[in-house]
Amino acid sequence: MIRFILNDHEVSTDAAPSGTLLDYIRYTADLRGTKIGCREGDCGACTVLSGRLRGNGVFYEGITSCLTPLANANGKHIVTIEGLNTDGLNRVQENMVNCSGTQCGICTPGFVVSLCGYVLNPRSSLSKSARDAVDGNICRCTGYKSIERAAKRLDQQLSDLTSGFRLEELIEGNFIPSHFRETVNKLRKVEPPDYVPGGKRVVGGGTDLYVQKPDEIPDMEVEFPFFYREKKGVWVDGEICIISGNGTATDLMDCKELSKAIPGWYGFMKLVSSTPIRNIGTIAGNLVNASPIGDLTILLLALDAELVLKNREEVERNVPLRSFYKGYKKMDMQESEWVDRISFSIPDEDLFNFEKVSKRKYLDIASVNSAIRVKAEGRVMSEVSCSIGGVAAVPLYLERVSAFLKGKEVDAGRVLDAVEILQKEISPISDARGSADYKRLLASQLFKAHFISLFPTVVKMEHVL
Ligand SMILES: Cc1cc2nc3c(=O)[nH]c(=O)nc-3n(C[C@H](O)[C@H](O)[C@H](O)COP(=O)(O)OP(=O)(O)OC[C@H]3O[C@@H](n4cnc5c(N)ncnc54)[C@H](O)[C@@H]3O)c2cc1C
Ligand code: FES
Ligand code: FES
Repeated sequence: MIRFILNDHEVSTDAAPSGTLLDYIRYTADLRGTKIGCREGDCGACTVLSGRLRGNGVFYEGITSCLTPLANANGKHIVTIEGLNTDGLNRVQENMVNCSGTQCGICTPGFVVSLCGYVLNPRSSLSKSARDAVDGNICRCTGYKSIERAAKRLDQQLSDLTSGFRLEELIEGNFIPSHFRETVNKLRKVEPPDYVPGGKRVVGGGTDLYVQKPDEIPDMEVEFPFFYREKKGVWVDGEICIISGNGTATDLMDCKELSKAIPGWYGFMKLVSSTPIRNIGTIAGNLVNASPIGDLTILLLALDAELVLKNREEVERNVPLRSFYKGYKKMDMQESEWVDRISFSIPDEDLFNFEKVSKRKYLDIASVNSAIRVKAEGRVMSEVSCSIGGVAAVPLYLERVSAFLKGKEVDAGRVLDAVEILQKEISPISDARGSADYKRLLASQLFKAHFISLFPTVVKMEHVL
C-alpha cells in the first residue's frame, strides 16, 4: 500500500508502484492541471512538488512526475498545480499573468510549480535566484523574457519577507495556500518504514530506467529505496565524503564541504541535467547506468571514488570506480549486489576542473566531458587524475595521461605532449553526438581547457592551439 499526502488530503492506494506518478495524478486522481509534454524529463510540463519531513519542517523539491515511480511518492507531500491555488491566483501565478508569462499554457503549470518550490525553499544553495529554479522548464511559445521578468518580480517580493517563521509569512502573503500549515502533522501519520533491501534490481530516481524501459519496468523484479524513510543523501565524515545508495545529484550539489574545497562546484553541477532531474536522479544510478558520458561518473572518476557493494547476505565488497567498468555497460557487480554507498576523499587544496560540451549548454547530455584533479606545489604537479567521457565504450580514467603528468612541471609544451598520449588512449566512435574525429578534437580541446583554466598565467590559449 502506498500512502502519501496529495495536496490537502491523504491518499492510500494499491495502484502499481512502478506506474508513474504522472499517470496516477492525471488518470486516477483526475488532476489534469499537471501536463504531459515529452514524458522523458526534458520539458518540465509535468513538474510537481515532493515534500518530505526534515527536522521540524518539510523540505520541498520540484520533480518530474513523468519519470517518478508512484512508489517514490510514499510518505511524501505531493503538490500539484491544483494544490497551489489560493482563493484567487497566488503571487507566483499573478506574476506570470502580469508579466505575460503564458500563452498556450501547456508549460505554465510546470513553471508555476517550480517557482513555488523555490518560494518554499529559496535560501537553498541550489538556486541562487528564481530564474535558476526553472532550469528544467521549457516553454515553446511565450518567450523566456516575460517568464524571467515574472521570476525577477518574485525575487523582489520574497526579499521583502523578514520573519523567521517563513511558512506563516508565505501563507499570509498569498504565496501558498493555507493547507500547507497542516502538512507536518499529516506527514507524521504516513511516515514510511525503514529500508530493508531485498536484493532485487534497484530503481532509484528512475530518470534513466523510465526513459529507457518505460513499458518493461512493470514486469521486472524491482525495489524502490525511496519508498522508505528519509534517505541519508550525502554526508562528510572527517575528510571523506560519503554518498548513500540513494543520494541524489542535488544532495551532492548541496554538499557545503565540497563547495568549499572546489570553488567551481556549483557551476559544474549546474551542467548536470536540471533542477527537477537532479532532485530525483541518484549518483548510484548514474554509475550503474554505465553511460560512457555520465557526468557524475566522470566527476567521481577524477575524485577517485570507491563503491561499496552489498548483497542479500549483507556481505560488503569495495570496488574502486576506476576498475568498475569492464566493457560497454559491463560492470564488476553481480545481479544480487547493489551500490550501498560511494565515498571519496574531499580535495585538500587540490585544483579541480570539469568541462562539458553538449549541443545545448544546459539540460543536455554531453558529447564529450572531462574532469581533472591536480595536486600542485608551485608549477610541479605531484598528483594528476584525469577522466574523460564520450570517447570510449566506458567512462574513461586517463591512466597514461595522468601518469605522464605526475611529477612534471606544467607548461604549454607538456600539455601538448600529454594531448598526444591522450589521443592514443581514447577510441571514440561516430554516433548521434558527433563523428569520431569531432570527438577526438573535443577531447584535445577540453583537456587543454583544463590547464588554461587551472594555470592561467602559465598555459595560455595561444600557446596550445
Ligand atoms: C532530462 C534528462 C536529462 C539528463 N541529463 C543528464 C546529464 O546532464 N548528465 C548525466 O550524467 N545524466 C543525465 N541524465 C541521466 C540521469 O538523470 C542520471 O544518470 C541519473 O543519475 C540516474 O539516476 P536514477 O536514480 O534516476 O537512475 P535509475 O533510472 O533509477 O537507475 C539507473 C540504473 O542504475 C541502477 N541503480 C540505481 N540505483 C542503484 C543502486 N543503489 N544500486 C545498484 N543499481 C542501482 C538501476 O537498476 C538502473 O540500472 C538525464 C536524464 C534525463 C531524463
Ligand atoms: S512530460 Fe516533459 S518532463 Fe515530464
Ligand atoms: S505557454 Fe505555450 S509552451 Fe509555454
